[in-house]
Amino acid sequence: MINTVPAVLALAAFVPLASAHIAFWDKSMYGFNVTQQDYSYDNRPVTPLVGYTFDQWWFHGHLDHPPLPGDTFDLPAGGTINSQLSCDKGATVWYNSSSGGDAGYGSNWPCPGQQSSQFHTTGIDDVMGCALAIAYKGNGSEVQPDDFTIFSVNQTCVWYLNTEFAVPAEMPACGPEGCTCAWFWIHSDKSGAEQMYMNGFSCNVTGATGTTPIGKSMLPRRCGADSDQNEAANPGNCTIGPKLPMYWMQAEGNNMNEGYYMPPVYNDIYGFHDGAQDDIFQDAYVSSLGASQPGVVPSATAAANRRAEIPEPVVTPPPASLVRRHKRTLAHEHSH
Ligand SMILES: *[C@@H]1O[C@H](CO)[C@@H](O)[C@H](O)[C@H]1NC(C)=O
Ligand SMILES: *[C@@H]1O[C@H](CO)[C@@H](O)[C@H](O)[C@H]1NC(C)=O
Ligand SMILES: *[C@@H]1O[C@H](CO)[C@@H](O)[C@H](O)[C@H]1NC(C)=O
Ligand SMILES: *[C@@H]1O[C@H](CO)[C@@H](O)[C@H](O)[C@H]1NC(C)=O
Ligand SMILES: *[C@@H]1O[C@H](CO)[C@@H](O)[C@H](O)[C@H]1NC(C)=O
Ligand SMILES: *[C@@H]1O[C@H](CO)[C@@H](O)[C@H](O)[C@H]1NC(C)=O
Repeated sequence: MINTVPAVLALAAFVPLASAHIAFWDKSMYGFNVTQQDYSYDNRPVTPLVGYTFDQWWFHGHLDHPPLPGDTFDLPAGGTINSQLSCDKGATVWYNSSSGGDAGYGSNWPCPGQQSSQFHTTGIDDVMGCALAIAYKGNGSEVQPDDFTIFSVNQTCVWYLNTEFAVPAEMPACGPEGCTCAWFWIHSDKSGAEQMYMNGFSCNVTGATGTTPIGKSMLPRRCGADSDQNEAANPGNCTIGPKLPMYWMQAEGNNMNEGYYMPPVYNDIYGFHDGAQDDIFQDAYVSSLGASQPGVVPSATAAANRRAEIPEPVVTPPPASLVRRHKRTLAHEHSH
C-alpha cells in the first residue's frame, strides 16, 4: 500500500473505517467477481480509492478482470438507464454470484440493514451526486484519463440503490468494438473520510441518430452556490461543454487540486446539472468568455483548462472554522 499519504490524511486514520462503501454493480463491469481474497489488499469494487497509485485507482485496478465478451451495458440515446449502486453485490440483481448470496435484494436502500453513514451521507440533503462517463474506445485497457467525458449526472446519488441516469439524445454510435464507461462518485465531507470512487464497465450506445462526436473534455470548475463554503454562484466561472471526470485524493494522476475539506462534486457546484449532459457535443469554454458563441474555444480558456501535466494535490490548511467543524464530526463519529 501507499506510504506517502499527505499529512492531513493522517486525520482520516482516526475515523473509524466504515465497513461498507458503494460500487456500481453490473455484469458489464470490470471486477464483477473480485472478492476480498483476489488482491494482497481489499480491492473489492466497493472499496474507496484514496492515496492510491495510478494503476491501483484507475478502473479500480480491475483492468485484468474485464467483463465477459458481449456483456455490455446498453445506453439508449435519449432514454434512461437504471444503475444499481450498493454496498453489497448481494443486494443487487446479481446476488446469485455474490459470495454471501442474497443480502437484501429487492430493497431500494443502497446498504440494506445499515445506516446512510455507510454510504457517506448524513441524509438526503447531504447527497452530492454521482456521474457516468464514456470513452469511445471498446477496449478498457486503451482508455486514457483524458478520453472520458461525463455524459450523465444524478444529483440525488447516492441515496437509492436503483439510480436512474438520462442518456443524451444526441449520443453518437460507438465503433464496432463498443465503448467503455465508468461510474464516478465523490461524497460530501460531512460523513467519513474523503475519497473517490470509480468502477469501469463496457457500454454501447443504442438507437443513435446523432453523428456529432463529443468535443474535447475540459476540467470542471467551481461555479455554483455552495452554502457550506459561504460561496455564491458564479456562473461565469463554469466550464460549459464536455467535462472530464474529477480525479482526486490519489497519490498520482489527480486532475483536481481541491483540499481535503472541499471535495469536488458532481452537481451544480462544479457546473454539472442534473440529468443528461446535452452540451458535450461541442468544445468546452468558460461561460463568461465565449457564451455567445458555442463551439468557439477562447485560447485563454484552453490555457486555463490545459492539463499538460497532472498536478499533485495541494493540500491547503482549511480555515479554522472548518477545522472546528470537522473535529466535531470526528468526535461525533467516535461516540458511535
Ligand atoms: C462471475 O461469476 C459467475 C458465477 O459465479 C459466472 O457465471 C460469471 O461468468 C463470472 N463473470 C465473470 C466476468 O467472471
Ligand atoms: C444470475 O442472475 C442474473 C441476473 O438475473 C442472470 O442473468 C444470470 O443468468 C444468473 N446466473 C445464474 C448462474 O443463474
Ligand atoms: C486491449 O488493449 C490492450 C492494451 O493495448 C491489449 O494488450 C489487449 O490485447 C487488447 N485486448 C483486446 C481484446 O483487443
Ligand atoms: C436519479 O435517480 C432517481 C432514483 O432512481 C430517479 O428518481 C431520478 O429521476 C434520477 N434523476 C435524474 C436526473 O435522472
Ligand atoms: C452497439 O449497438 C449497436 C446498435 O444497437 C449494434 O449495432 C452494435 O452491434 C453494438 N455493438 C456492440 C459492440 O455491442
Ligand atoms: C473558478 O474555478 C476555479 C477552478 O475550479 C476555482 O479554483 C476558482 O476558485 C473559481 N473562482 C471563483 C471566483 O469561483
